[in-house]
Amino acid sequence: MYTRICAMIVSGLVCVMPLQAAEPAAPAPPTLESLQADVTRLQSIMPGQAFAMTQVAYNFSNLWFAVQAENWPLAQFYASETKVRLRGAMRVQPSRKISSGNLELTPIATALETTQLAAIEQSITAKDKTGFVAGYTGMMHGCQGCHEASEKPSLKLHIPTMPAEPMIDFAR
Ligand code: HEC
Repeated sequence: MYTRICAMIVSGLVCVMPLQAAEPAAPAPPTLESLQADVTRLQSIMPGQAFAMTQVAYNFSNLWFAVQAENWPLAQFYASETKVRLRGAMRVQPSRKISSGNLELTPIATALETTQLAAIEQSITAKDKTGFVAGYTGMMHGCQGCHEASEKPSLKLHIPTMPAEPMIDFAR
């Protein structure tokens, strides 16, 4: 009985296996039209600049709490991530239409990076909390300056009251 069942199973497998092992049909080579359709589709699912900005704000908000806890290595991480994410947000959309024409965003972000963000990084290296507060506030006003220039004045920033990430232990 056992042998018969096995034989049935084995013969079943023998029948099924060649089907499973069949070569999948080779995909058709891409055409200009299919590539254009792919690009359009990818553009439609790309997160926009507002989403990229939430990543900037996420890191910039955590940065405040890292420094309050005098966790300098963590502060260094979040300052560096803020810079990377801001650059990323500029790549998503380097300029935007406003009522008076076209606003170039990238030069504004680059200017902030080389002044306010650089001052923040220096204060972290020097473990200078007072210098950090000045740098952070300056940067925050710079961020908001760009929101105003972008005709989004309601995106008003203030010193965060809680970190964006609850899972990170900010204590040293
Ligand atoms: C060079 C210009 C520029 C700079 C600099 C800038 N932002 Fe923005 N930000 C924008 C624009 C434009 C939008 C709106 C994007 C949209 O509507 O598609 C925005 C949106 C936002 C939003 C709203 C996102 C959402 O979907 O809720 C937050 C939060 C934000 N920015 C935080 C910051 C912070 C924090 C900084 C500085 C560390 C900063 N931004 C620096 C241009 C800038």
